[in-house]
Amino acid sequence: MKMIPITIEKSTHLKAKPDVNTLGFGKYFTDHMLTAKFTTQKGWFDAGIRPYKPFEIDPGASVLHYGQALFEGMKAFRQKNGKIVLFRPEFNWKRMVAGADRLCMEAPPEDLFLNGIKELVKIDKDWIPEQPGSLYIRPTLIGTEAFLGVRPSEEILFFAILSPVSSYYAEGASAINIWVETEYLRAAPGGLGATKAGANYASSLKAALEAKKKGYAQVLWLDYSREHIEEVGTMNVFFVFENEIVTPSLDGTILSGGVRRSVIDLLKSWNLPIVERKLKISEVIAAKNKGTLKEAFGTGTAAVITPIQELASKDWKIKLSANGQKGELSQRIYDELVGIQYGHIEDKLGWLQEL
Ligand SMILES: Cc1ncc(COP(=O)(O)O)c(C=O)c1O
Repeated sequence: MKMIPITIEKSTHLKAKPDVNTLGFGKYFTDHMLTAKFTTQKGWFDAGIRPYKPFEIDPGASVLHYGQALFEGMKAFRQKNGKIVLFRPEFNWKRMVAGADRLCMEAPPEDLFLNGIKELVKIDKDWIPEQPGSLYIRPTLIGTEAFLGVRPSEEILFFAILSPVSSYYAEGASAINIWVETEYLRAAPGGLGATKAGANYASSLKAALEAKKKGYAQVLWLDYSREHIEEVGTMNVFFVFENEIVTPSLDGTILSGGVRRSVIDLLKSWNLPIVERKLKISEVIAAKNKGTLKEAFGTGTAAVITPIQELASKDWKIKLSANGQKGELSQRIYDELVGIQYGHIEDKLGWLQEL
């Protein structure tokens, strides 16, 4: 297949870099961005790394009316030996391809996605903080054709921006409290739940806001029957029972997380009993009452491995850990994952791609 050439235009006005102690998550953007256009007539063209600046798009653009928007989230790490690595970038490309298909958008070809992002990260590499920070990468796809009337856009803009980050939650690396949502619904079978469509996040805001007001960092979504556990706002979830570790199976309503996949692979490599299956919230509560639920944690690119301290809903509350501490297994997984990402532990499962 023909490679798409990527031009490079360097910024002449480099920004001052933020203090690493104030990074938080997603507040600062680097000097450059990757952009490429697609039309059904021309295919992909005009791919380039350019100075970061606002876009000009037509007020009739389909993304502004019909929400054709899809994004990815991935990270680059600065290792202790100076190497810069991306964590499983091909996983994100494949997920973008699947999501774009569901949203009737053209996905960027693999070489444009991977080489474009690698070149972009190289150009802005001075922005990558040292451990425990990292560079969050946000590839995005939007429909830009100007028309009114509901149909797929024949013009697409692919872009990627970079943000130096530290911890995703205000709680830092310690355990968080989560509200089990029984009123609002994130996704139903046949919907968009398995994609990183912007629409999923727009529909999640109300529940997240109400949970925050009650003092909970995020919500745990249940399925349409309000019986089975799905995922947390920006994380997949794992429950550690006495005899098995369970994460909800991928039945089309939850995101297939890259960190979820990696944790499953890691647990298998440690010969631990990891099972992907349907999991009822009532089973979690019953196990807690019987003393067979050991710990629970969320996984995500932004959230890494975040232990869950408390789960609560309208008429019940269970405590899973005391004083924000990590459980034994979540600590072990966190140490291994972060150790591989920063180059302290050998990357035996082949997750990293060096720039
Ligand atoms: C809804 C949702 N679930 C799960 C995840 C975790 O996915 P990943 O491990 O690929 O970051 C995310 C990503 O941030 C998410 O937004």
